[in-house]
Amino acid sequence: MAFIADKLILFGATGDLAQRMVLPSLCALDADHLVARDLKIIGTARSEHDDAGFRAFAGAALEKYLPEDRKAAIPAFLERLSYQTLDASDPSGFAVLAAKAGTVDDGLAIFLSTAPSLFEPTIKGLAASGLASDKTRIGLEKPLGTDLGSSCHINDAVSVAFPEERIFRIDHYLGKETVQNLLALRFANVLFEPLWNAQHIDHVQITVAETVGLEGRVGFYDGAGALRDMVQNHMLQLLALVAMEPPHSYEAASIRDEKVKVLRALRLPGEGDSVTGQYRAGAISGAAVPGYDDELGKDSDTETFVAIRAHIDNWRWKGVPFYLRTGKRLPERKTEIVIQFKAVPHSIFAGKGARSEPNKLIIGIQPRENIGLTVMAKIPGLDRGGIRLREVPLDISMPDAFAGPKKRIAYERLLLDLIEGDQTLFVRRDEVEAQWHWIDAIREGWGEHGVVPKTYTAGSWGPSAAIALAERDGVTWHE
Ligand code: BG6
Repeated sequence: MAFIADKLILFGATGDLAQRMVLPSLCALDADHLVARDLKIIGTARSEHDDAGFRAFAGAALEKYLPEDRKAAIPAFLERLSYQTLDASDPSGFAVLAAKAGTVDDGLAIFLSTAPSLFEPTIKGLAASGLASDKTRIGLEKPLGTDLGSSCHINDAVSVAFPEERIFRIDHYLGKETVQNLLALRFANVLFEPLWNAQHIDHVQITVAETVGLEGRVGFYDGAGALRDMVQNHMLQLLALVAMEPPHSYEAASIRDEKVKVLRALRLPGEGDSVTGQYRAGAISGAAVPGYDDELGKDSDTETFVAIRAHIDNWRWKGVPFYLRTGKRLPERKTEIVIQFKAVPHSIFAGKGARSEPNKLIIGIQPRENIGLTVMAKIPGLDRGGIRLREVPLDISMPDAFAGPKKRIAYERLLLDLIEGDQTLFVRRDEVEAQWHWIDAIREGWGEHGVVPKTYTAGSWGPSAAIALAERDGVTWHE
Protein backbone atom coordinates (compact mmCIF):
# COMPACT_ATOMS: atom_id res chain seq x y z
CA MET A 1 0.00 0.00 0.00
CA ALA A 2 3.00 2.24 -0.37
CA PHE A 3 1.88 5.22 -2.36
CA ILE A 4 2.07 8.91 -1.73
CA ALA A 5 -1.10 10.75 -2.58
CA ASP A 6 -0.72 13.57 -5.03
CA LYS A 7 -4.27 14.81 -4.58
CA LEU A 8 -6.05 15.79 -1.43
CA ILE A 9 -9.76 16.45 -1.08
CA LEU A 10 -10.67 18.47 1.94
CA PHE A 11 -14.29 18.08 3.07
CA GLY A 12 -15.44 20.84 5.40
CA ALA A 13 -12.96 23.16 3.67
CA THR A 14 -14.64 26.34 4.89
CA GLY A 15 -15.07 25.13 8.47
CA ASP A 16 -13.32 26.30 11.59
CA LEU A 17 -10.88 23.36 11.73
CA ALA A 18 -9.86 23.87 8.11
CA GLN A 19 -9.15 27.55 8.72
CA ARG A 20 -7.35 27.19 12.03
CA MET A 21 -5.46 23.94 11.56
CA VAL A 22 -5.73 22.09 8.27
CA LEU A 23 -4.94 24.82 5.75
CA PRO A 24 -2.14 26.33 7.88
CA SER A 25 -0.62 22.85 8.38
CA LEU A 26 -0.71 22.07 4.67
CA CYS A 27 0.82 25.44 3.89
CA ALA A 28 3.62 24.78 6.39
CA LEU A 29 4.31 21.34 4.88
CA ASP A 30 4.36 22.89 1.45
CA ALA A 31 6.74 25.64 2.52
CA ASP A 32 9.20 23.02 3.74
CA HIS A 33 8.82 20.95 0.55
CA LEU A 34 7.48 17.99 2.49
CA VAL A 35 4.59 17.35 0.14
CA ALA A 36 4.89 16.48 -3.53
CA ARG A 37 5.58 19.42 -5.81
CA ASP A 38 2.45 18.60 -7.75
CA LEU A 39 0.12 17.99 -4.77
CA LYS A 40 -3.30 19.37 -5.66
CA ILE A 41 -5.73 20.28 -2.93
CA ILE A 42 -9.42 20.40 -3.70
CA GLY A 43 -11.59 22.03 -1.08
CA THR A 44 -15.24 21.21 -0.85
CA ALA A 45 -18.14 22.34 1.32
CA ARG A 46 -21.64 23.61 0.95
CA SER A 47 -20.61 27.28 0.71
CA GLU A 48 -20.64 28.77 -2.77
CA HIS A 49 -17.15 29.58 -4.01
CA ASP A 50 -15.27 29.31 -7.25
CA ASP A 51 -11.55 28.53 -7.24
CA ALA A 52 -10.58 32.17 -6.93
CA GLY A 53 -13.12 32.75 -4.17
CA PHE A 54 -11.81 29.79 -2.18
CA ARG A 55 -8.22 30.93 -2.62
CA ALA A 56 -9.18 34.33 -1.26
CA PHE A 57 -10.98 32.64 1.64
CA ALA A 58 -8.02 30.35 2.38
CA GLY A 59 -5.59 33.25 2.00
CA ALA A 60 -7.46 35.23 4.64
CA ALA A 61 -7.44 32.22 7.01
CA LEU A 62 -3.71 31.71 6.49
CA GLU A 63 -2.98 35.39 7.11
CA LYS A 64 -4.88 35.07 10.34
CA TYR A 65 -3.56 31.77 11.66
CA LEU A 66 -0.04 31.31 10.29
CA PRO A 67 2.86 32.74 12.29
CA GLU A 68 4.43 35.81 10.72
CA ASP A 69 7.60 34.03 9.58
CA ARG A 70 5.57 31.53 7.58
CA LYS A 71 3.42 33.92 5.61
CA ALA A 72 5.81 34.27 2.68
CA ALA A 73 4.75 30.77 1.63
CA ILE A 74 1.08 31.68 1.22
CA PRO A 75 0.95 32.80 -2.46
CA ALA A 76 2.63 29.63 -3.79
CA PHE A 77 0.43 27.45 -1.59
CA LEU A 78 -2.77 29.08 -2.80
CA GLU A 79 -1.83 28.03 -6.34
CA ARG A 80 -2.43 24.43 -5.31
CA LEU A 81 -5.99 25.04 -4.23
CA SER A 82 -9.22 24.61 -6.14
CA TYR A 83 -12.78 24.28 -4.93
CA GLN A 84 -16.02 22.49 -5.63
CA THR A 85 -19.30 23.48 -3.98
CA LEU A 86 -21.03 20.31 -2.82
CA ASP A 87 -24.00 19.31 -0.73
CA ALA A 88 -22.54 16.15 0.78
CA SER A 89 -25.95 14.95 1.93
CA ASP A 90 -26.75 14.18 -1.71
CA PRO A 91 -24.51 11.40 -3.09
CA SER A 92 -25.57 12.21 -6.65
CA GLY A 93 -23.64 15.49 -6.52
CA PHE A 94 -20.27 13.73 -6.22
CA ALA A 95 -19.78 13.29 -9.96
CA VAL A 96 -18.88 16.96 -10.28
CA LEU A 97 -16.37 16.60 -7.47
CA ALA A 98 -14.83 13.58 -9.20
CA ALA A 99 -14.63 15.56 -12.44
CA LYS A 100 -12.92 18.40 -10.61
CA ALA A 101 -10.41 16.00 -9.04
CA GLY A 102 -9.61 14.37 -12.40
CA THR A 103 -7.63 11.15 -12.39
CA VAL A 104 -6.84 9.82 -8.94
CA ASP A 105 -4.86 6.78 -10.05
CA ASP A 106 -1.66 7.98 -8.45
CA GLY A 107 -3.14 8.28 -4.99
CA LEU A 108 -5.78 10.35 -3.28
CA ALA A 109 -6.03 11.41 0.35
CA ILE A 110 -9.38 12.54 1.68
CA PHE A 111 -9.74 14.54 4.87
CA LEU A 112 -13.28 14.40 6.18
CA SER A 113 -14.22 16.98 8.73
CA THR A 114 -17.99 17.22 8.57
CA ALA A 115 -21.02 16.66 10.77
CA PRO A 116 -21.46 12.96 11.69
CA SER A 117 -24.77 12.91 9.82
CA LEU A 118 -22.87 13.54 6.57
CA PHE A 119 -20.44 10.63 6.92
CA GLU A 120 -22.66 8.01 5.37
CA PRO A 121 -23.88 9.98 2.33
CA THR A 122 -20.33 11.20 1.76
CA ILE A 123 -18.97 7.66 1.67
CA LYS A 124 -21.74 6.60 -0.69
CA GLY A 125 -21.03 9.56 -2.93
CA LEU A 126 -17.30 8.83 -2.94
CA ALA A 127 -17.91 5.19 -3.81
CA ALA A 128 -20.44 5.92 -6.56
CA SER A 129 -18.24 8.56 -8.19
CA GLY A 130 -15.10 6.40 -8.27
CA LEU A 131 -13.28 8.52 -5.68
CA ALA A 132 -13.00 5.57 -3.27
CA SER A 133 -10.50 3.58 -5.32
CA ASP A 134 -7.84 1.30 -3.88
CA LYS A 135 -5.47 4.25 -4.10
CA THR A 136 -7.62 6.37 -1.76
CA ARG A 137 -7.03 6.88 1.94
CA ILE A 138 -9.61 8.56 4.09
CA GLY A 139 -8.92 10.58 7.22
CA LEU A 140 -11.87 10.92 9.59
CA GLU A 141 -12.08 13.77 12.04
CA LYS A 142 -14.09 13.48 15.24
CA PRO A 143 -16.83 13.29 16.36
CA LEU A 144 -17.18 9.77 15.04
CA GLY A 145 -20.58 9.18 16.57
CA THR A 146 -22.12 10.00 19.90
CA ASP A 147 -22.10 6.51 21.40
CA LEU A 148 -21.01 2.98 20.57
CA GLY A 149 -24.04 2.31 18.37
CA SER A 150 -23.65 5.42 16.22
CA SER A 151 -19.89 4.95 16.06
CA CYS A 152 -20.35 1.35 14.80
CA HIS A 153 -22.85 2.64 12.30
CA ILE A 154 -20.35 5.16 10.90
CA ASN A 155 -17.52 2.61 10.93
CA ASP A 156 -19.72 0.10 9.09
CA ALA A 157 -20.66 2.71 6.49
CA VAL A 158 -17.03 3.67 5.93
CA SER A 159 -15.90 0.06 5.75
CA VAL A 160 -18.18 -0.60 2.79
CA ALA A 161 -15.94 1.58 0.65
CA PHE A 162 -12.60 1.51 2.54
CA PRO A 163 -10.68 -1.33 4.21
CA GLU A 164 -9.31 -0.61 7.69
CA GLU A 165 -5.75 -0.13 6.36
CA ARG A 166 -6.91 2.88 4.39
CA ILE A 167 -9.00 4.46 7.17
CA PHE A 168 -7.19 7.08 9.27
CA ARG A 169 -9.21 8.05 12.36
CA ILE A 170 -7.81 11.27 13.72
CA ASP A 171 -7.19 12.01 17.36
CA HIS A 172 -5.12 15.15 17.13
CA TYR A 173 -3.53 14.50 20.54
CA LEU A 174 -1.55 11.68 18.92
CA GLY A 175 -0.06 14.23 16.55
CA LYS A 176 1.37 16.25 19.42
CA GLU A 177 5.10 15.85 19.79
CA THR A 178 4.94 15.61 23.58
CA VAL A 179 2.35 12.83 23.38
CA GLN A 180 4.58 10.83 21.06
CA ASN A 181 7.41 11.51 23.45
CA LEU A 182 5.58 9.41 26.04
CA LEU A 183 6.60 6.38 24.01
CA ALA A 184 10.22 7.51 23.94
CA LEU A 185 10.21 8.20 27.65
CA ARG A 186 8.80 4.79 28.47
CA PHE A 187 10.45 2.60 25.89
CA ALA A 188 13.76 4.24 25.02
CA ASN A 189 14.87 4.42 28.66
CA VAL A 190 15.60 1.51 30.94
CA LEU A 191 15.00 3.62 34.01
CA PHE A 192 11.24 3.78 34.24
CA GLU A 193 9.92 0.48 32.93
CA PRO A 194 10.93 -1.69 35.94
CA LEU A 195 9.01 0.72 38.17
CA TRP A 196 6.04 1.20 35.85
CA ASN A 197 3.56 -1.04 37.65
CA ALA A 198 1.35 -1.51 40.68
CA GLN A 199 4.27 -2.48 42.86
CA HIS A 200 5.86 0.95 42.60
CA ILE A 201 3.16 3.34 41.37
CA ASP A 202 0.55 4.59 43.79
CA HIS A 203 -1.68 6.32 41.26
CA VAL A 204 -1.69 8.26 38.00
CA GLN A 205 -3.31 11.62 37.30
CA ILE A 206 -4.18 12.91 33.86
CA THR A 207 -5.39 16.49 33.64
CA VAL A 208 -6.53 18.29 30.50
CA ALA A 209 -7.53 21.75 31.67
CA GLU A 210 -8.73 24.49 29.37
CA THR A 211 -9.48 28.15 30.02
CA VAL A 212 -11.74 28.52 26.99
CA GLY A 213 -15.51 28.20 27.17
CA LEU A 214 -17.91 27.37 24.38
CA GLU A 215 -15.92 29.20 21.67
CA GLY A 216 -18.98 29.63 19.49
CA ARG A 217 -19.52 25.85 19.24
CA VAL A 218 -22.84 26.08 21.02
CA GLY A 219 -24.79 23.53 18.99
CA PHE A 220 -22.08 20.91 18.95
CA TYR A 221 -20.80 21.18 22.50
CA ASP A 222 -24.11 21.16 24.26
CA GLY A 223 -24.93 17.88 22.52
CA ALA A 224 -21.59 16.38 23.49
CA GLY A 225 -20.25 17.47 26.89
CA ALA A 226 -16.77 17.02 28.35
CA LEU A 227 -16.96 13.23 28.63
CA ARG A 228 -17.60 12.67 24.94
CA ASP A 229 -15.66 15.69 23.70
CA MET A 230 -12.42 15.06 25.59
CA VAL A 231 -12.38 11.82 27.58
CA GLN A 232 -13.70 9.43 24.94
CA ASN A 233 -10.81 10.26 22.65
CA HIS A 234 -7.87 12.36 23.82
CA MET A 235 -7.78 11.36 27.47
CA LEU A 236 -8.29 7.66 26.85
CA GLN A 237 -5.53 7.73 24.26
CA LEU A 238 -3.21 9.35 26.80
CA LEU A 239 -4.21 6.75 29.36
CA ALA A 240 -3.58 3.94 26.88
CA LEU A 241 -0.08 5.25 26.06
CA VAL A 242 0.77 5.51 29.74
CA ALA A 243 -0.60 2.09 30.63
CA MET A 244 0.14 -0.15 27.65
CA GLU A 245 2.63 -3.01 27.59
CA PRO A 246 5.83 -2.47 25.58
CA PRO A 247 4.95 -2.92 21.91
CA HIS A 248 7.16 -5.12 19.77
CA SER A 249 8.10 -2.26 17.41
CA TYR A 250 7.20 1.28 16.48
CA GLU A 251 4.67 0.09 13.93
CA ALA A 252 0.98 0.81 13.65
CA ALA A 253 -0.13 -2.76 14.37
CA SER A 254 2.16 -3.29 17.38
CA ILE A 255 1.29 -0.04 19.06
CA ARG A 256 -2.42 -0.24 18.42
CA ASP A 257 -2.57 -3.88 19.54
CA GLU A 258 -1.16 -2.85 22.91
CA LYS A 259 -3.35 0.22 23.31
CA VAL A 260 -6.54 -1.66 22.64
CA LYS A 261 -5.71 -4.23 25.33
CA VAL A 262 -5.59 -1.44 27.89
CA LEU A 263 -8.83 0.12 26.67
CA ARG A 264 -10.57 -3.23 26.90
CA ALA A 265 -9.26 -3.76 30.42
CA LEU A 266 -10.84 -0.56 31.74
CA ARG A 267 -13.19 -1.41 34.58
CA LEU A 268 -16.68 0.02 34.16
CA PRO A 269 -16.82 2.82 36.75
CA GLY A 270 -19.33 2.66 39.58
CA GLU A 271 -21.61 5.34 40.98
CA GLY A 272 -19.01 7.13 43.12
CA ASP A 273 -16.28 7.04 40.50
CA SER A 274 -17.13 10.21 38.59
CA VAL A 275 -18.05 13.82 39.21
CA THR A 276 -19.48 16.25 36.67
CA GLY A 277 -19.62 20.01 36.71
CA GLN A 278 -20.80 23.01 34.74
CA TYR A 279 -19.21 26.43 35.02
CA ARG A 280 -20.90 29.56 36.22
CA ALA A 281 -19.75 33.14 35.75
CA GLY A 282 -16.34 33.86 37.20
CA ALA A 283 -12.96 35.23 36.22
CA ILE A 284 -9.98 33.82 34.38
CA SER A 285 -6.64 35.63 34.57
CA GLY A 286 -8.47 38.60 36.04
CA ALA A 287 -11.04 38.87 33.22
CA ALA A 288 -14.72 38.27 33.93
CA VAL A 289 -16.30 35.45 31.91
CA PRO A 290 -19.96 34.42 31.68
CA GLY A 291 -21.42 31.14 32.88
CA TYR A 292 -22.15 28.25 30.54
CA ASP A 293 -25.90 28.79 30.80
CA ASP A 294 -25.41 32.49 29.90
CA GLU A 295 -23.26 31.60 26.89
CA LEU A 296 -25.75 28.99 25.82
CA GLY A 297 -28.77 31.20 26.44
CA LYS A 298 -30.67 28.45 28.24
CA ASP A 299 -30.42 25.91 31.04
CA SER A 300 -28.65 22.68 30.23
CA ASP A 301 -27.52 19.47 31.90
CA THR A 302 -24.40 19.18 29.77
CA GLU A 303 -21.19 18.75 31.74
CA THR A 304 -18.30 21.11 31.03
CA PHE A 305 -16.13 19.33 33.60
CA VAL A 306 -15.64 15.71 34.47
CA ALA A 307 -13.40 13.88 36.90
CA ILE A 308 -13.19 10.09 36.90
CA ARG A 309 -11.42 7.46 38.94
CA ALA A 310 -10.55 4.69 36.51
CA HIS A 311 -9.07 1.25 37.05
CA ILE A 312 -7.36 -1.02 34.59
CA ASP A 313 -8.06 -4.62 35.40
CA ASN A 314 -4.83 -6.36 34.55
CA TRP A 315 -1.73 -7.58 36.37
CA ARG A 316 0.36 -4.49 35.82
CA TRP A 317 -2.20 -2.01 37.16
CA LYS A 318 -3.98 -4.01 39.84
CA GLY A 319 -5.20 -1.53 42.47
CA VAL A 320 -3.69 1.59 40.84
CA PRO A 321 -6.29 4.31 40.31
CA PHE A 322 -6.02 6.58 37.27
CA TYR A 323 -7.61 9.92 38.06
CA LEU A 324 -8.76 11.75 34.94
CA ARG A 325 -9.96 15.31 34.95
CA THR A 326 -10.87 17.74 32.20
CA GLY A 327 -12.89 20.90 32.00
CA LYS A 328 -13.57 24.21 30.32
CA ARG A 329 -13.02 27.53 32.06
CA LEU A 330 -10.48 26.17 34.53
CA PRO A 331 -7.81 28.50 35.93
CA GLU A 332 -5.11 27.62 33.40
CA ARG A 333 -4.54 25.72 30.19
CA LYS A 334 -2.63 22.64 31.17
CA THR A 335 -2.35 19.08 29.92
CA GLU A 336 -0.26 17.03 32.27
CA ILE A 337 0.31 13.46 33.38
CA VAL A 338 1.51 12.78 36.90
CA ILE A 339 2.92 9.41 37.88
CA GLN A 340 2.88 9.25 41.66
CA PHE A 341 5.29 6.62 42.90
CA LYS A 342 4.95 4.82 46.24
CA ALA A 343 6.94 5.75 49.31
CA VAL A 344 10.21 3.98 50.07
CA PRO A 345 9.37 0.73 51.92
CA HIS A 346 11.32 1.78 55.00
CA SER A 347 12.79 5.18 55.75
CA ILE A 348 16.19 5.10 57.39
CA PHE A 349 15.78 8.80 58.11
CA ALA A 350 12.65 8.52 60.22
CA GLY A 351 14.67 8.20 63.42
CA LYS A 352 16.47 11.43 62.51
CA GLY A 353 13.23 13.35 62.19
CA ALA A 354 13.29 13.60 58.42
CA ARG A 355 10.23 13.11 56.26
CA SER A 356 10.63 11.53 52.89
CA GLU A 357 8.09 12.27 50.13
CA PRO A 358 7.41 9.69 47.44
CA ASN A 359 8.84 10.47 43.99
CA LYS A 360 6.65 11.99 41.35
CA LEU A 361 7.15 12.05 37.60
CA ILE A 362 5.38 14.94 35.92
CA ILE A 363 4.99 14.88 32.17
CA GLY A 364 3.93 18.27 30.81
CA ILE A 365 2.18 17.94 27.47
CA GLN A 366 1.07 21.56 26.98
CA PRO A 367 1.62 24.44 27.18
CA ARG A 368 4.73 23.56 29.20
CA GLU A 369 6.53 20.74 27.49
CA ASN A 370 8.67 19.22 30.15
CA ILE A 371 9.54 16.12 32.09
CA GLY A 372 10.02 16.67 35.78
CA LEU A 373 10.99 14.19 38.45
CA THR A 374 10.90 15.05 42.10
CA VAL A 375 13.80 13.54 44.00
CA MET A 376 14.45 13.65 47.74
CA ALA A 377 17.68 15.36 48.69
CA LYS A 378 19.40 16.26 51.92
CA ILE A 379 19.28 19.92 52.86
CA PRO A 380 22.93 20.90 53.36
CA GLY A 381 23.93 21.45 56.96
CA LEU A 382 25.58 19.89 59.98
CA ASP A 383 22.35 18.16 61.00
CA ARG A 384 22.88 18.61 64.70
CA GLY A 385 19.13 18.98 65.17
CA GLY A 386 18.33 16.05 62.88
CA ILE A 387 18.57 15.38 59.18
CA ARG A 388 16.40 17.46 56.92
CA LEU A 389 15.30 16.27 53.52
CA ARG A 390 13.51 18.14 50.77
CA GLU A 391 12.11 17.41 47.32
CA VAL A 392 14.18 18.85 44.50
CA PRO A 393 13.04 18.74 40.90
CA LEU A 394 14.97 17.27 38.01
CA ASP A 395 13.38 19.20 35.20
CA ILE A 396 13.91 18.76 31.48
CA SER A 397 12.37 21.43 29.33
CA MET A 398 11.80 19.98 25.88
CA PRO A 399 12.01 23.31 24.00
CA ASP A 400 15.38 24.00 25.70
CA ALA A 401 16.67 20.49 25.04
CA PHE A 402 15.67 20.67 21.39
CA ALA A 403 16.03 24.29 20.43
CA GLY A 404 17.03 23.36 16.87
CA PRO A 405 14.23 21.28 15.33
CA LYS A 406 11.23 23.15 14.03
CA LYS A 407 8.14 22.93 16.19
CA ARG A 408 5.29 21.41 14.24
CA ILE A 409 1.64 21.41 15.15
CA ALA A 410 -0.23 18.12 15.43
CA TYR A 411 -2.08 18.42 12.14
CA GLU A 412 1.13 18.85 10.13
CA ARG A 413 2.27 15.45 11.29
CA LEU A 414 -1.11 13.80 10.84
CA LEU A 415 -1.77 15.21 7.37
CA LEU A 416 1.67 14.13 6.22
CA ASP A 417 1.08 10.61 7.58
CA LEU A 418 -2.30 10.50 5.83
CA ILE A 419 -0.73 11.55 2.53
CA GLU A 420 2.10 9.04 2.95
CA GLY A 421 0.06 6.22 4.49
CA ASP A 422 1.45 5.70 8.00
CA GLN A 423 -1.30 4.65 10.43
CA THR A 424 0.78 4.57 13.62
CA LEU A 425 -0.69 7.78 15.01
CA PHE A 426 -4.27 7.04 14.00
CA VAL A 427 -6.94 5.24 15.98
CA ARG A 428 -8.05 1.76 14.91
CA ARG A 429 -11.69 0.75 14.90
CA ASP A 430 -11.38 -1.61 17.84
CA GLU A 431 -9.82 1.15 19.93
CA VAL A 432 -12.62 3.61 19.18
CA GLU A 433 -15.21 1.01 20.01
CA ALA A 434 -13.56 0.02 23.28
CA GLN A 435 -13.45 3.73 24.16
CA TRP A 436 -17.14 4.16 23.44
CA HIS A 437 -18.05 1.04 25.39
CA TRP A 438 -16.52 2.55 28.52
CA ILE A 439 -17.94 6.03 27.93
CA ASP A 440 -21.44 4.66 27.32
CA ALA A 441 -21.30 2.77 30.61
CA ILE A 442 -20.45 5.97 32.46
CA ARG A 443 -23.27 7.87 30.77
CA GLU A 444 -25.72 5.08 31.50
CA GLY A 445 -24.71 5.25 35.14
CA TRP A 446 -25.33 9.00 35.17
CA GLY A 447 -28.76 8.41 33.64
CA GLU A 448 -29.66 5.68 36.14
CA HIS A 449 -28.60 7.72 39.15
CA GLY A 450 -30.00 11.01 37.87
CA VAL A 451 -26.59 12.68 37.96
CA VAL A 452 -26.69 16.35 37.02
CA PRO A 453 -23.57 18.51 36.87
CA LYS A 454 -22.62 20.43 39.98
CA THR A 455 -21.83 24.08 39.38
CA TYR A 456 -18.33 25.52 39.66
CA THR A 457 -17.09 29.05 39.32
CA ALA A 458 -15.22 29.77 36.11
CA GLY A 459 -11.57 30.07 37.03
CA SER A 460 -11.72 27.36 39.72
CA TRP A 461 -10.58 23.73 39.45
CA GLY A 462 -14.11 22.38 39.12
CA PRO A 463 -16.69 21.41 41.73
CA SER A 464 -15.49 20.60 45.23
CA ALA A 465 -16.78 17.05 44.75
CA ALA A 466 -13.92 16.52 42.28
CA ILE A 467 -11.44 17.31 45.02
CA ALA A 468 -13.30 14.97 47.35
CA LEU A 469 -13.22 12.18 44.73
CA ALA A 470 -9.44 12.07 45.00
CA GLU A 471 -9.16 13.00 48.67
CA ARG A 472 -11.30 10.08 49.72
CA ASP A 473 -8.35 7.98 48.59
CA GLY A 474 -5.84 10.28 50.28
CA VAL A 475 -4.85 11.78 46.93
CA THR A 476 -4.45 15.47 46.12
CA TRP A 477 -4.77 16.72 42.56
CA HIS A 478 -1.51 18.14 41.30
CA GLU A 479 -1.96 21.85 40.63
C1 BG6 B 1 -11.03 19.14 20.68
C2 BG6 B 1 -12.27 19.45 21.48
O1 BG6 B 1 -11.03 17.82 20.26
O2 BG6 B 1 -9.89 19.40 21.48
C3 BG6 B 1 -12.25 20.88 22.01
O3 BG6 B 1 -13.42 19.26 20.66
C4 BG6 B 1 -10.96 21.15 22.75
O4 BG6 B 1 -13.37 21.12 22.84
C5 BG6 B 1 -9.76 20.73 21.92
O5 BG6 B 1 -10.91 22.53 23.05
C6 BG6 B 1 -8.49 20.85 22.73
O6 BG6 B 1 -7.39 20.65 21.90
P1 BG6 B 1 -5.99 21.24 22.27
O7 BG6 B 1 -5.09 20.74 21.19
O8 BG6 B 1 -6.13 22.73 22.28
O9 BG6 B 1 -5.66 20.71 23.62
